[in-house]
Amino acid sequence: MAHKVLNNISLKNIESSGLSKLKTDVLVIVINKNTKNNPSFKELNKLSKNYISKTVSSHLKDSGSSIMLPKIDGVSASNILLVKGLDEKDPIHKWLNMYKAIAHKGNSLGSKDISVMPGTSAPEGKDEYWLIEMVSKIIESNVYIFSETKNKTIKEPSVKKLTILTSGLSPSNLTKAKKAAKKGYAIGEGVNTAKYLGDLPANHCTPRIIEKKVKAMTKDFPKLKVKSFNEKDMQKMGMGSFLSVSRGSEEPARMMVIEYKGGKSSEKPIALVGKGVTFDTGGVSIKPSPGMDEMKWDMCGAATVFGVMSTLARLNADVNVVGVMGCAENMCSSKATKPGDVVTSMSGQTIEILNTDAEGRLILADCLTYVGKYKPSYVIDMATLTGAVIIALGRHASGVMANNQHLADMIIESGEESGDRAWQLPLWDEHQSCTKTKYADLANIGGGREAGTIHAAAFLSKFTNDYKWAHIDIAATASYSTPVKAGTGRPVPLISELLLSKKLK
Ligand code: BES
Ligand code: ZN
Ligand code: MN
Repeated sequence: MAHKVLNNISLKNIESSGLSKLKTDVLVIVINKNTKNNPSFKELNKLSKNYISKTVSSHLKDSGSSIMLPKIDGVSASNILLVKGLDEKDPIHKWLNMYKAIAHKGNSLGSKDISVMPGTSAPEGKDEYWLIEMVSKIIESNVYIFSETKNKTIKEPSVKKLTILTSGLSPSNLTKAKKAAKKGYAIGEGVNTAKYLGDLPANHCTPRIIEKKVKAMTKDFPKLKVKSFNEKDMQKMGMGSFLSVSRGSEEPARMMVIEYKGGKSSEKPIALVGKGVTFDTGGVSIKPSPGMDEMKWDMCGAATVFGVMSTLARLNADVNVVGVMGCAENMCSSKATKPGDVVTSMSGQTIEILNTDAEGRLILADCLTYVGKYKPSYVIDMATLTGAVIIALGRHASGVMANNQHLADMIIESGEESGDRAWQLPLWDEHQSCTKTKYADLANIGGGREAGTIHAAAFLSKFTNDYKWAHIDIAATASYSTPVKAGTGRPVPLISELLLSKKLK
């Protein structure tokens, strides 16, 4: 059950009178300095008796701003949306926001199909194929509307079809452009899959419900092999750390493993591990009430694994990837783990749980040990792990910490490439001292108010000695807080870019 919104994204190479004859609900033209020389645009402008060019020069002042024109006689499109294009020097987030606004406009107008001429320039260092990929990705992932738990006030996305308009492409370049559009579409679908799982309320998205959805996905993508572990299975494997989190809940935990083998059979897989806390009350170390509903997004790491695996399968990518989703509900009850309890992790290390709200690392610890059996070339975990990362980096970047600098560099580079950015925090030996305690090999918290994000990573690093590993803290980036309150689908674009561009050699 992947979550594709558009039925179709296609590419059309526009000839001299193509724009005026194009049948579409909304023809979107991004105007750059070269647009006026485009023969097809010239013809369209002429048909409008220069109304289009006059509107552009008198009303479109700021880049990114737009204006809607009603039907023009002799032009097949029902509406024309003129958008003032950006400058090559404008930062990438502005480009992405421009296409996001187009997707929202399409839905708010109730349009079924939109056709977009992306403009003649791209941001510095990027080419037209990058632009096509982004248009495809951003529009697919922003026509998404969550309405599953509405009954009387359902609002569905109206936009079902996107045509990306190009001009003057040779047949081989057209093939390249089509490939870029397909890649963007598949990543957008992965983003929507992650957004959807996150947006589902926690009572509609328990570990067992996620398990069902993961299993159902293999119907769409037979190349994905799913293994699911229940609490008994995890008990047998000695996952006492993971299981300490679900102890207080009526909802049993699940660990799902999704294998995708698209590369050579001799190639070691890259492993993805995601925190999937379907609701985080904090447990006995209970959280304050205000905003606690936002803890339904505490499974966005696992949702990212789900989304990325669907993208890889959709594209038949030639990589080997194994994805692990550690799903549990963190509740308080008479059975719940108490501060001071000591549990034994799968690695054999004992852990004193000094704060039951530092539960994500307890789940990840055992998942990270488990994934070692795949002898992975690299391991990346993604988790909404600490509120401290929101304070350290704000909402625009995910936090990266790693025991391998090449891996950290490639993650950051993929963030820049995809517009889903990440920034590195140090993980030094000095940070390790905080995990010491009198009663166990490790404590699950330490360091007090200092560098909470790094101390969480330092704890995880005790379980990742056997391989090259990076941890991405997505607590700030996986969802928008009040007033927007929505999943973002991050870091699906970053991870998809990293895997698809084969940066990890
Ligand atoms: N799920 C939270 C982190 C979080 C906070 C995610 C805000 C999204 C938004 C995590 O399980 C948690 O509670 N972390 C604690 C750790 C602390 C007890 C050391 C935190 O950040 O306060
Ligand atoms: Zn949590
Ligand atoms: Mn917590």
